[in-house]
Amino acid sequence: MHRHGGLFMNVVVVYASRYGSTKGIAESIAARLRERGLEAEARSVDSNPDPGAYDAVVLGSAVYLGRWMKEAAEFAERNRAALASRPAWLFSSGPLTLKDGVTVDDPDVVPTDIASLRDAIHPRDHRVFFGALDPGKLGFAQRAMRMLPAARAVLPEGDFRDWDAIGAWADGIAAAVKDRTS
Ligand SMILES: Cc1cc2nc3c(=O)[nH]c(=O)nc-3n(C[C@H](O)[C@H](O)[C@H](O)COP(=O)(O)O)c2cc1C
Repeated sequence: MHRHGGLFMNVVVVYASRYGSTKGIAESIAARLRERGLEAEARSVDSNPDPGAYDAVVLGSAVYLGRWMKEAAEFAERNRAALASRPAWLFSSGPLTLKDGVTVDDPDVVPTDIASLRDAIHPRDHRVFFGALDPGKLGFAQRAMRMLPAARAVLPEGDFRDWDAIGAWADGIAAAVKDRTS
């Protein structure tokens, strides 16, 4: 365990997830941080964790129609001071597929919320990860939306989460958090 002033370094991975795939990413990040010797837990925004009780925060949201879930944006707004005053990392669980030549850094892919969050919180990083879509889980509105020819995002069925990319990103967070303790 990494100690800081006699205390274990404790990280919270807060997530907003409608159908569970972002929750899975958050849990995998927390597990990797624990493997790297930190204390870490994944918590839903709905349980309203206090970022002020942790040494570092990871905050992620599923992306719908180009935006973070309202719950995640509101969590960031509510906890702005605590997030700005400790190391914070953001992630978005968004695209399912990308057109040729488009990358996850493309402005069309990065949710519109991120620019203002960068200004408000000064996160160490923001990353977009591929998500997952199980049509059987969708509610009526989402199902209808998915059928719209004008839908901006292409929404194929499947699990496109890139566990290697997620794990590597978590390793970088673990290294940065531990670096502060030395
Ligand atoms: C109706 C609908 C709209 C979506 N819109 C977007 C979008 O605008 N941008 C994006 O990157 N992903 C979009 N997605 C993909 C979701 O972000 C992806 O399925 C994500 O992994 C869902 O996370 P969750 O299971 O935690 O809710 C959309 C999915 C659905 C079903």
